[in-house]
Amino acid sequence: MKQKLIEAAKKVSENAYVPYSGFQVGAALLTESGKIFTGCNVENSSYGLTNCAERTAIFKAVSEGETNFKELVIFSNTEELFYPCGACRQVISEFSSDLKITIVSLTDEFETSIRDLLPHGFKL
Ligand code: THU
Repeated sequence: MKQKLIEAAKKVSENAYVPYSGFQVGAALLTESGKIFTGCNVENSSYGLTNCAERTAIFKAVSEGETNFKELVIFSNTEELFYPCGACRQVISEFSSDLKITIVSLTDEFETSIRDLLPHGFKL
């Protein structure tokens, strides 16, 4: 399944709308019900309105009624591994206290979890 998620994350990264950074990111989210939701980053000329790939995938899933997640793969089209930004970590933690996350680059892969990436996250 992880390989399938990696392929999906790579594929959706091709849709990244990144005229400002040129930094393509793709995310693939597996739900407990077995569905895969993908997302890419979508930039804006008003830079702060940019939506990261992880949040695009999560918001797509939630708006389709899915809030229970099993696994997330984040791919960046770079040699170096890039870790999710703080905003995305907080959004992930809203739905899962221990989601398995695999971070993938063109040449590397790193397995972690939201528990490790965001210890003591904010939760109401
Ligand atoms: N980006 C993501 O898609 N996910 C992250 O976790 C960090 C950053 C995107 C946002 C922007 O389009 C580009 O990477 C550079 O910041």
